Amino acid sequence: MCGIIGYIGKGLAQESLIDGLRRLEYRGYDSAGVAFHEGNEFCMSRETGRVQNLADSVQKNSSQSSLGIAHTRWATHGAVTVPNTHPHVSHDGKFVMVHNGVIENFGALKHFLSGKGIEFNSETDSEVLCNLIAYNYSELLNEKDRLIDAVRIALAQCRGAYGIAVLCLDYSETMIGARRGSPLVVGLGDDANFIASDASAFVGRAKEAVFLNDGELAILKGTDFRITTLEGQEAKAVAHPVDQISEEVEIGDFDSFMEKEIYEQPTALKNTLRGRFGDDGTTAKLGGLEGHEEELRNLDRIIFVACGTARHACMVGEYLIERLARVPVEVEHASEFRYRNSPKAEKSLVIAVSQSGETLDTLEAVREAKTKGLLTLGITNVVGSSLARETDGGVYQRVGPEIGVASTKAFSSQVCLCAMLGLALGRMRDLSPMDGQGIVEALNDLPDLVSRVLQQGEQIRELALKYSKAEHLLFMGRQSLYPVALEGALKLKEISYAHAEGYPAAELKHGPIALINPECPSIFIVEGSELSAKTIANMQEVKARQGPVLAIAPEGVEIPKEAADDVFRLPVAHEVVRPILANLPLQLFAYHFARLRGLDVDKPRNLAKSVTVE
Ligand code: G6P
Repeated sequence: MCGIIGYIGKGLAQESLIDGLRRLEYRGYDSAGVAFHEGNEFCMSRETGRVQNLADSVQKNSSQSSLGIAHTRWATHGAVTVPNTHPHVSHDGKFVMVHNGVIENFGALKHFLSGKGIEFNSETDSEVLCNLIAYNYSELLNEKDRLIDAVRIALAQCRGAYGIAVLCLDYSETMIGARRGSPLVVGLGDDANFIASDASAFVGRAKEAVFLNDGELAILKGTDFRITTLEGQEAKAVAHPVDQISEEVEIGDFDSFMEKEIYEQPTALKNTLRGRFGDDGTTAKLGGLEGHEEELRNLDRIIFVACGTARHACMVGEYLIERLARVPVEVEHASEFRYRNSPKAEKSLVIAVSQSGETLDTLEAVREAKTKGLLTLGITNVVGSSLARETDGGVYQRVGPEIGVASTKAFSSQVCLCAMLGLALGRMRDLSPMDGQGIVEALNDLPDLVSRVLQQGEQIRELALKYSKAEHLLFMGRQSLYPVALEGALKLKEISYAHAEGYPAAELKHGPIALINPECPSIFIVEGSELSAKTIANMQEVKARQGPVLAIAPEGVEIPKEAADDVFRLPVAHEVVRPILANLPLQLFAYHFARLRGLDVDKPRNLAKSVTVE
């Protein structure tokens, strides 16, 4: 995993590289490093911990170089130590390299190189690749394209995923990048060009971005660049304007990005919804699906593939789409879908949902679906992301950059888009115009209802304070609120490190009830439908065993005193928007719970915003 950036230009590399690393920190923040080409040597700085530690260290020793590469790491092979921090330098000092991905056959390659007398300073697979390039370079003494061939040959010997940037001491004006499986993009500016894991790394510095395809190599020389395949054929470079998004990622008056993103949800949802309803006010109109109407009308199965929070949004989508459009829906962990022998059905649609559009498991699931000839659609927040480029069509979430590692506004907009998709598909089938109109109105009212719930943030803070000593918590809901229970539990464990689990409320008596005691609070999300009575009965079962109960229930649903210790009220709303509303207090609960423990909610330990390894 990890984020990489390289700079080649007329100015000084240092500031662009450190700034780029800060923007890539969502990809990992275990350690960070930078290497500058200084003419006759590489100058390196590497620090464990956040990019800020590296920034402090390079500040003391400013580099005048205009060629450098940098990396922020999410540890895969080897502990979080300075020797395992990128960039890695080859045994002969000729090459430095940064790498995002996993070289699966690094053990065999390391054995081969060790046999040639090469010694290693780290436990990483990346150092092996760097040395493999150096070894091939030494073997190609008189070749014309010695540097490029050395990189090509080494990459052909690797199995696994990589996005790399490489510098060679003998070439003071060249930087090479290559990708397979991990994203890589070339940034083109007036005075400098870049290689990075994503375009956000050079916002404000590059005007255009060229996204590399798998199996391509970028050769940046002075102010020129070209793209070739790994086999050496010239490849087409398509330049896209770089979105100038930097002002949107300021934290403002908020304590953390997570808090900011929670409170941004009314605006975020307005943007998700804007201009996406049919003129007659009874259906949704999603531009990215145009051209696929016939296939959508004739679908007989939808398979969602996603990871983490995005998968929970899909699970809500499963309930909503089945209800509105009566199409069978399955939700798969993207990582599982890829390796399953699921029977191919001609009229299946695969929908991949990913905030970043770069989660490797999700991308691989899409690639597998395409291999099987299935239609693929993407729901993603990041314009130009790999998911957006690799699917047959899709819809953008339009919620602006999400920086907090724990996903919040992205979840709400993904659920919202699933509801819109269910509405559009429903109207192509049995859903009546009246029902369609009711859903359109409910979705249009959603941003205001979200604001109303968020205004009760202080009540949630007090509840989080009351329960903040708990180390085990259960979250329960039924139907479309079951995935919300899963998401509430995930959010809490991600940022507070307390143990939390989500269950369908009726499953309580099939196991989790054994965990109930006065130290294990249960959070029940009550539906506001005919099912409420059953959920309230489950709450009473917990109370009968001295378990504390917090109920999240719509106004008007009576919660007997003996069934709950605390009740948080939600506004009465249409069933399609209830999951989004019910999730808001759970986001705030996790946020306050973690803050009360003094934790950094934006960068929880061991996690990363975008997971680009399998
Ligand atoms: C990581 C993040 C989660 C996120 C998941 C999927 O695990 O920590 O917050 O839900 O990736 O990310 P995606 O970008 O594909 O939605």
